[in-house]
Amino acid sequence: MAAAVRCITVVGAGIMGRGIAFAAARAGFETRVIEPSAKAIDSAKAEVEKIVARGKEKGELDAAAAEQAGRIAWATAADAAKGSDLVIEAVPESVPLKADLYAKLAPHLAPSAILATNTSGLSITELAATSDRAPRFVGMHFFNPVHRMRLVELIRGLETSDETLAVTEEVARAMGKETVVVRESPGFVTSRINALIGNEAFTMLEAGVASARDIDKALKLGLNHPMGPFEMVDLVGLDTRLSILEYLHRTLGEKYRPSPLLVQYVKAGRLGRKVGRGVYDYAG
Ligand SMILES: NC(=O)c1ccc[n+]([C@@H]2O[C@H](COP(=O)([O-])OP(=O)(O)OC[C@H]3O[C@@H](n4cnc5c(N)ncnc54)[C@H](O)[C@@H]3O)[C@@H](O)[C@H]2O)c1
Repeated sequence: MAAAVRCITVVGAGIMGRGIAFAAARAGFETRVIEPSAKAIDSAKAEVEKIVARGKEKGELDAAAAEQAGRIAWATAADAAKGSDLVIEAVPESVPLKADLYAKLAPHLAPSAILATNTSGLSITELAATSDRAPRFVGMHFFNPVHRMRLVELIRGLETSDETLAVTEEVARAMGKETVVVRESPGFVTSRINALIGNEAFTMLEAGVASARDIDKALKLGLNHPMGPFEMVDLVGLDTRLSILEYLHRTLGEKYRPSPLLVQYVKAGRLGRKVGRGVYDYAG
């Protein structure tokens, strides 16, 4: 376990927060979760129990590890962060929302506590500037599902200190993750490359280069990608992908202009698995 960090508080128990909390508890950190929605807490608890049960079944967790992984304290208010060495924020992707949360957390945090955000694309420097601790502010970009995905992208804002980076790297390793360090830039490494591949796939589909199934098959069997770009965008959500591309287009230039076909799919409400239809049809 990372020496400088004993207690981790995760804020937000949605898709990502619950997975991060599991990873922290599993690694032996005292783990707390702050989530205002009782419904989200119930569903997060149930999901952590399911992950633990499956881990036991598969022999990945012994009884002691399973007990440790399930030991998470759930709370609804910001004062539960008191005494944390590291807070990992996983609330929705909005600067004002995240900034408001940092202001609510500030009176409960020790000056030495590190604040990490799981943002998938917002500027770490901008978010850090809204907090009271820019040198102890960093991006910790986990991937979905957290208990399966091995990478944490560590993103350095303009003022992130070497020590903050070193501590979060150690924490990620203690969670069993590999890390890469990225200087802040739009889309970091992963979202930027993934958006470009996905956009090119739509451009090729529109031009009739190959069918969606064959483009997916080509990348999986020929290039060893675990998922095809259309399977992936259906999982991520076409609206989410479009908003990432629009941001990259605005910040990095023409290369990232969203494919007109992707724009049309979003206009048609074909947003992916979450609505039963994206590039592929999931109804029935
Ligand atoms: N979903 C992904 O695949 C993915 C991957 C990497 C990073 N991210 C990033 O992680 C963050 C969270 O995404 P998500 O998909 O888990 O979102 P989500 O909508 O599933 O969960 C967000 C949770 O935050 C809670 N919340 C809202 N305001 C809060 C507050 N003030 N205090 C505490 N909790 C609050 C909500 O009730 C909700 O349960 C976002 O910044 C997102 O961009 C998401």
